[in-house]
Amino acid sequence: MKKRDFLTMDDLSIDDINDILDDSFLFSNLHKGWQLPHSRLIANLFFESSTRTHYSFISAETQMGAKVVDFQPSTSSVNKGETLYDTVKTFEAIGMDCVVIRHEEDRYYEQLENINIPIINAGDGSGNHPSQSLLDLYTIKEHFGKFEGLNLLIVGDISHSRVAHSNITTFERLGGNVKLSGPEFLVDRKDLYVDLDEGVAWADIVMMLRIQFERHKDKFDFKADEYLEKFGLTKQREKMMKENAIIMHPAPVNRDVEIDSDLVECERSKIFKQMENGVYVRKAIIKKVFGEEF
Ligand code: NCD
Repeated sequence: MKKRDFLTMDDLSIDDINDILDDSFLFSNLHKGWQLPHSRLIANLFFESSTRTHYSFISAETQMGAKVVDFQPSTSSVNKGETLYDTVKTFEAIGMDCVVIRHEEDRYYEQLENINIPIINAGDGSGNHPSQSLLDLYTIKEHFGKFEGLNLLIVGDISHSRVAHSNITTFERLGGNVKLSGPEFLVDRKDLYVDLDEGVAWADIVMMLRIQFERHKDKFDFKADEYLEKFGLTKQREKMMKENAIIMHPAPVNRDVEIDSDLVECERSKIFKQMENGVYVRKAIIKKVFGEEF
């Protein structure tokens, strides 16, 4: 049997997406305490900084009764020149049943075709972030009950955002409409560009992004207060949003840069709800990767 990797949203059919969202809902409620029926060892290999994704995978794995191994790149043989492939192959050799990987290289998993245990992609460079996309979808469906016909505005450093890249195509596949805003030189899909004020008034979902300075090759002239005024979600812009519209952000949030600090926990903000939902969604992904049934 071909092993089940979980790498990009494009690999998932609409039915797969709906199955994961349905399972996530069951994990949020009825199947809260559901345990993996077989003993499973899962290794988390985070080569890039992470708080939410890393620890919500650990939370999901632990709650499901998996045994969790947490890899520390800084004290591993990566420092001795070992490749990503040899590192992952080692985890396979020493008995892991699955690896969760975050890595700074776009499509790093293409080097891992000869790995025989399932790989869950927790983010590749500026490429894909499928578990984030699913938790975003879950949060949207929880609020609106559908995707069809909804307007999603994503604002910020689109070019360097795997969150934006995973969400744009997926949301369109699900029948939603997507527009992008932010500094024009940081928006790689010019065809979807919209003026920020116009976009905010159009959107049902305003998804704010952090500027991913760590991925920038060239420095740009940046002042936090100017950025907030020009490209951020200010209190004034929030007032232009539709009555039932919501604010999302994958976090980490840079308060008072891309979003006014007072809006982070305002009534229409789903930012902390997204984090909570991330655990349900990651449980559903792990269940799917191991091919388990409730
Ligand atoms: C994002 C990421 O790491 O891709 N955060 C996350 O996973 N929740 C976004 C970011 O780093 O800005």
